[in-house]
Amino acid sequence: MRKKLIAGNWKMNGLTHDGISLAKDLANLYKASDNPIFDMFIAPPFTLLSNVLEVVKESGVWVGAQDCSMYDAGAHTGDVSPIMLKDLGCGGVIVGHSERRADHGETNEIVKAKAEAALKAGLGVIICVGETLRERETGKTLNVVKEQLQKSIPTETTAGRVVIAYEPVWAIGTGKTPTKNDVQEVHASMRHVLADVVGAEIAQNIRLLYGGSVKPNNAKDLLTLPDVDGALVGGASLKVNDFWAIAQAVM
Ligand code: PGA
Repeated sequence: MRKKLIAGNWKMNGLTHDGISLAKDLANLYKASDNPIFDMFIAPPFTLLSNVLEVVKESGVWVGAQDCSMYDAGAHTGDVSPIMLKDLGCGGVIVGHSERRADHGETNEIVKAKAEAALKAGLGVIICVGETLRERETGKTLNVVKEQLQKSIPTETTAGRVVIAYEPVWAIGTGKTPTKNDVQEVHASMRHVLADVVGAEIAQNIRLLYGGSVKPNNAKDLLTLPDVDGALVGGASLKVNDFWAIAQAVM
């Protein structure tokens, strides 16, 4: 049984006061829900990690960053290493988000190096993949996602520490989502590809999230697909009621 994972990517949003209060509200809801059947992860901006870690501690909510360096330390101005994140108390990190691939030229090879560095530091990783609109329209989705997976999955992948998020670039922040059939098709195909790369058992147990315009009104449809094990939520993760409603859709 793969336990569902509801992950919130706050992106470059949140100042101290609002960020702390959002994290606190979520932590209280999660703690109060008796033995939740889903894991909850939130990725605030670097500037809020320390505050958020403090307010969610002992709630069971898992906190991590939205990116990390592939290096452990040294002359890399502006970067944050996975060892630093671990030292702070983070449990994980998102790598390869399409906004990083687009804004910072991150290739599959870079994503893989970051994921490997994060695992080495003792963090869990959420690795993002997904096609552009042009790739979708020209029928290349499955091949694009396959190549991204083959090239960005760490050699040491285990089902416990690695999560994959399928996020079609054209669905992020647009209010558009693929059909249920399209999502299930990509997720089933990803499991197939993963079986070749990391073996059948890990492929069967690894969690595959869907991300891209997940909202309370479409969460149930997406989260009950057989190969969808949770959601990576952007915009709706900034509103406690919306994010919590999405999480409730796994019930
Ligand atoms: P969105 O973002 O939910 O705002 O579409 C998802 C993501 O980028 O992870």
